[in-house]
Amino acid sequence: MQRVLVINGSPKGNNSNTMQLTNAVLEGIRKADESVNIEQLNVCDMDIKHCVGCMSCWGKTPGKCVINDCMQAVHESFRKADIVILSFPLYFFGMPGAMKVFVDRLMPLMETYRGAVRNIGNDAFHEFRFDTEDKRFVVISSCGYGRTEEIYDSLTKEMNFIFGGGRYYPLYCPQSEMLAIEQLKPQINVYLERYRRIGELLGKGEQISKEDIQAVSEPILPQRAFELLVNNYWNMMTPKKKVYLFGDSLMKAVMPDESGMYHSSDAIGFSDMEEKYHFELSNFAMPTFTTSQILPYMKNIMANKELPDLVLLEGGGNDCDHDWARFASTDGEELINRVSIEQFEENLRTIAEFWKEKGVPCMYVVTPPIDMKQFFRHLQKDEKLSMLKDKFPDVAPMEQEYKDYKAVMYKIIDEYHMKKIDLTNCFDSVDNISSVYSADGMHPNEKGYAMFKEAFEQGFASMEY
Ligand SMILES: Cc1cc2nc3c(=O)[nH]c(=O)nc-3n(C[C@H](O)[C@H](O)[C@H](O)COP(=O)(O)O)c2cc1C
Repeated sequence: MQRVLVINGSPKGNNSNTMQLTNAVLEGIRKADESVNIEQLNVCDMDIKHCVGCMSCWGKTPGKCVINDCMQAVHESFRKADIVILSFPLYFFGMPGAMKVFVDRLMPLMETYRGAVRNIGNDAFHEFRFDTEDKRFVVISSCGYGRTEEIYDSLTKEMNFIFGGGRYYPLYCPQSEMLAIEQLKPQINVYLERYRRIGELLGKGEQISKEDIQAVSEPILPQRAFELLVNNYWNMMTPKKKVYLFGDSLMKAVMPDESGMYHSSDAIGFSDMEEKYHFELSNFAMPTFTTSQILPYMKNIMANKELPDLVLLEGGGNDCDHDWARFASTDGEELINRVSIEQFEENLRTIAEFWKEKGVPCMYVVTPPIDMKQFFRHLQKDEKLSMLKDKFPDVAPMEQEYKDYKAVMYKIIDEYHMKKIDLTNCFDSVDNISSVYSADGMHPNEKGYAMFKEAFEQGFASMEY
């Protein structure tokens, strides 16, 4: 009658992923040998005292431990077993603590070390005190990582020192949490069948080939599918972060249609990003708003809203823009910014202080320069603004104004140590700036907004809430 000793080192007892694999091996063994005697130890349920390092087991009481606990009987079972199976999850690239306590207490089974030094390679460091020629050792372990290469290197080295490389069968399973997914039953069964087969070979006392061992370590799912599943799982388990966005029409990806009517859109792709980076975006951006409007609007909204985990701020383009109605009514004499640069700075500082006081981190979204020439052509379609081209034959001064407002933005970003999503250079690779702007020269077109996406994604990926 063959004896099998199974040492289960998972704190999850019989619900252990690893034990699913081990049970498949045991099924195989039973199939090959109906009379087999299987003893299973669940180390987490046993009262195993720590090794105290007295080394009596090598000196005063060779082969015997001075601690009188359940391990005395375990040593006996270990000696008698034909097949010893260690079954445990990978914890921090090694065995779990309880299992290590158990293994430390196997010291009495090892030959006394008498000081020799040699090149060990993959050999066992110690010999067992008794003949293990006919014994077979199996190490079954599962891990959450997507593959077993590298991740099992340190454990392999440890097991080689204990048993000797080639003296035990390493059955290491990656993507272990997939074993718990009901919908993957068919794939899991194919996988478990490989473990059953190994069990059968063990039960018959036959050799297990390298190919058989390799097959049990193959990932259950293709890497991409695995990654998606794991990501979705953690997204499901983790509450979504709340992100609030205050800004102007650009953050609503507003574009004019052929008749000049403006519509918001999802051309930046925020919905996809919410899914991918696991946040819930409340987009409070308001078309045409300057910071002088954003500020009271923001305070008003926050009067009865929960604090978010992160605030995205955008704005400034409308502040720097001009009061064109006044320009027209004064026959081109008076041209003032919608919000003066001084007021703009004050507004930004007040906004930054508002969030600082609440302890909510801010990220500033800096938008790229508009297509000024096209913007002017667009404005001049209005007869009342036809004098624009005489007043501003060159758009350079206007472009400089936008740069001055941007400099204020960067100043406040630095002052308040805000992170930023900088879209300024988004269109650098574009030969003709008009190709990424709508007919008004102010709003990017579908293609332009889509070019914001990468910078936003980088920003969201680097978010620390
Ligand atoms: C504390 C802890 C440490 C872990 N360390 C690792 C690790 O280093 N590498 C890995 O791939 N998985 C690691 N995992 C995941 C487990 O190895 C994996 O979920 C395993 O299948 C659990 O097996 P069990 O159900 O038999 O206990 C760790 C899990 C825990 C709880």
